[in-house]
Amino acid sequence: MRSIAFFAGVVTTVAQQVYIPIDGPSSRPQCAANLTYANVTPAYSFRDFSFTQTETLRTATSIPAPTTSSNYAPPYASLSFLVPDLTTTQWGNWDPSVTASPMDLDDPYGNASWSALWTRIPIVNFTRGIYSSTVQPTAIPTSELVLPPPEYFTPSDCYYFPSEFMLGVSSSAVQIEGAIADEGRSPAYTDFFNALSSTSAPDFVTNENYYLYKQDIERIASMGVKYYSFSVPWSRILPFVLEGTPVNKQALDHYDDLVDFILEKGMLPTITLIHTDAPMLFYNNISDLSTTPGGIGYIDGGFQRSYKNQSFEDAFVNYGKVLMTHFADRVPIWFTFNEPLLGARNGKSIDAVLKSHARLAHFYREEINGTGKISMKLNDNFGVPRDPKDSVDVEAANHFNSFQLATFGNPIFLGLDYPDSYKMTVSDYVQLTAGDLAYINGTADFLGIDPYTATVITPPPNGTIEDCARNSSHPLWPYCVAQSTSTSTGWDIGYRSQSYVYITPTYFRTYLNYLWNTFKSPIVITEFGFPVFTEAEKELSDQLFDSPRSWYYQSFLSEGLKAIWLDGVKLIGAFAWSFADNWEFGDYDAHFGIQTVNRTTQERRYKKSFFDFVDFVESRRQKVV
Ligand SMILES: *[C@@H]1O[C@H](CO)[C@@H](O)[C@H](O)[C@H]1NC(C)=O
Ligand SMILES: *[C@@H]1O[C@H](CO)[C@@H](O)[C@H](O)[C@H]1NC(C)=O
Ligand SMILES: *[C@@H]1O[C@H](CO)[C@@H](O)[C@H](O)[C@H]1NC(C)=O
Ligand SMILES: *[C@@H]1O[C@H](CO)[C@@H](O)[C@H](O)[C@H]1NC(C)=O
Ligand SMILES: *[C@@H]1O[C@H](CO)[C@@H](O)[C@H](O)[C@H]1NC(C)=O
Ligand SMILES: *[C@@H]1O[C@H](CO)[C@@H](O)[C@H](O)[C@H]1NC(C)=O
Ligand SMILES: *[C@@H]1O[C@H](CO)[C@@H](O)[C@H](O)[C@H]1NC(C)=O
Ligand SMILES: *[C@@H]1O[C@H](CO)[C@@H](O)[C@H](O)[C@H]1NC(C)=O
Ligand SMILES: *[C@@H]1O[C@H](CO)[C@@H](O)[C@H](O)[C@H]1NC(C)=O
Ligand SMILES: *[C@@H]1O[C@H](CO)[C@@H](O)[C@H](O)[C@H]1NC(C)=O
Repeated sequence: MRSIAFFAGVVTTVAQQVYIPIDGPSSRPQCAANLTYANVTPAYSFRDFSFTQTETLRTATSIPAPTTSSNYAPPYASLSFLVPDLTTTQWGNWDPSVTASPMDLDDPYGNASWSALWTRIPIVNFTRGIYSSTVQPTAIPTSELVLPPPEYFTPSDCYYFPSEFMLGVSSSAVQIEGAIADEGRSPAYTDFFNALSSTSAPDFVTNENYYLYKQDIERIASMGVKYYSFSVPWSRILPFVLEGTPVNKQALDHYDDLVDFILEKGMLPTITLIHTDAPMLFYNNISDLSTTPGGIGYIDGGFQRSYKNQSFEDAFVNYGKVLMTHFADRVPIWFTFNEPLLGARNGKSIDAVLKSHARLAHFYREEINGTGKISMKLNDNFGVPRDPKDSVDVEAANHFNSFQLATFGNPIFLGLDYPDSYKMTVSDYVQLTAGDLAYINGTADFLGIDPYTATVITPPPNGTIEDCARNSSHPLWPYCVAQSTSTSTGWDIGYRSQSYVYITPTYFRTYLNYLWNTFKSPIVITEFGFPVFTEAEKELSDQLFDSPRSWYYQSFLSEGLKAIWLDGVKLIGAFAWSFADNWEFGDYDAHFGIQTVNRTTQERRYKKSFFDFVDFVESRRQKVV
């Protein structure tokens, strides 16, 4: 067995085993050598037969009722001066099958103006879910909390998670809430984008979590998960988006109740301010999303846009202040952006993300005096060099990872300028001044990463990275490297899911080393998950017995422990994506959940992996003495 220094000059971890260069079967050094010889034979014998199987009944341990509550900032009453002239109102539900037309046409923020936002989208077959008001939760019967049979092969390590390690589950509003046009929410990017994409299933209903949140929280708390991560739709809080427009009273009440219920169950909330749901009002022409060519990510997240002369950056900061002043007293962790690179179109978008994040972090720490944590969730499926001994492959992998991570991580964690990988690619990047860098540096308490899988990197097959980077028409732009799912040995990089995710635990350990040693910040896994292949086609009982998802979580967490104890990496939390199957941006078939959702009845059921995920961490958690 040999180890390979993976990122010569960058990180000198020895964690990565790419292949085992021996002939023949693997050696088993832990086994007694004398048994290897054929002259040692098993001792065959007869005995009376009886069934020896035993059943051990264990049930999940729910989060204990809270005995104390913590405050992370003063309450809204003491912070309202920070959001002056804030008015609240409320709007109804929009439903195209109900023909009543509001008459308050001269009120720019009235019901007529609000309804008109929805009629701008050519929505067909609008459907409502089953529920139209908050469902009261019921206790989870013990019969649902019985642990499944354990996986036969589990790690035999003896490492522990630090007592404060954050165990959580993650979600986002557009993927679970439904009720998109209820209680004053105005349209967001995902609503019109999917209404206009004929091949996509719309997000009208999804998991109806807007009304079922209490039952969802009850189920998560019953499994013993401490942290619940969710996002709030900006267009629900501020249907008319901009500073100076009325705040939606029903939305504030809803999220107040959600946060309070999480705390009542002994759990802790984390709030993400935006998760692919920029308000529609930033988009002048929703039929034409091609007006900003050369987009970096897959979608137009709106960050470079403005509305009525108010930039996204300014409007987002106002929205963030409204949310933080209302909820910072009870919320210990804030994320400004989810995977902002995916919604970035150009240099201005990245600039807006960094500066609005930094402004909100300063607001949180210096004006609210918040004592919780703030960060953002970054995305990068770890790029690994095809041949780690070939400097050209290593350079390509470094280019790929630094573009996606250091573009945000250099300014935020190190106070350093954008990396060359970004500057050589995005020609209209906005220069950060020394003042900007001093202001942005240190504005995250930890690095949030969604490290779903790894991808094998080589340079572009034709031409150089530099040639490609300068040419936004190049098929490999913007990352300008070739990506593959197979290693140099020709094998897949790991066991494959329904989509792009492969089970790549050993690369995960290397990744943690890369992140920690590059950005020198504690790390939280803000999302990770595995959509089991064709799970949606299986019978319910077979969906529930989702061993590949358990292997994913157990093997990643096991490698995470090695990173902590063997490599000295400060990994402080892990959030499973997602607490239930949900709307995967136009699709319900990519099952990323650790619970199933019946699309007819909205009934949830725990999958085996939920128990295995929680059990893996809790059976290894250090006790406070
Ligand atoms: C093999 O060696 C181990 C000690 O290494 C010993 O305990 C065991 O009895 C031996 N087995 C046989 C079959 O000789
Ligand atoms: C919209 O209509 C609802 C129901 O009639 C009413 O409660 C609400 O105050 C109206 N909102 C505005 C902004 O006029
Ligand atoms: C709307 O529903 C009709 C009737 O079920 C169906 O034929 C049509 O394809 C649906 N349109 C969309 C865009 O889903
Ligand atoms: C909006 O974009 C569509 C598609 O590009 C185009 O056909 C239409 O003319 C545009 N509308 C306006 C008002 O510019
Ligand atoms: C936007 O700003 C421009 C230039 O400052 C100005 O001419 C225009 O009237 C403004 N538009 C609005 C809607 O305020
Ligand atoms: C936050 O702390 C600063 C510095 O101590 C103080 O001036 C300010 O009043 C505090 N803000 C609040 C909302 O308490
Ligand atoms: C960024 O902030 C850190 C922590 O405060 C500090 O150590 C580092 O020197 C700063 N970076 C620069 C380039 O000033
Ligand atoms: C590389 O260039 C050759 C010759 O121009 C062309 O045939 C081939 O398709 C190119 N490969 C890729 C991956 O672009
Ligand atoms: C940019 O890439 C496109 C697509 O590969 C190619 O047709 C074009 O010639 C390239 N332009 C330059 C300046 O290299
Ligand atoms: C969803 O629930 C309905 C009603 O109980 C049932 O008929 C259906 O089989 C369920 N679907 C799945 C996939 O279990």
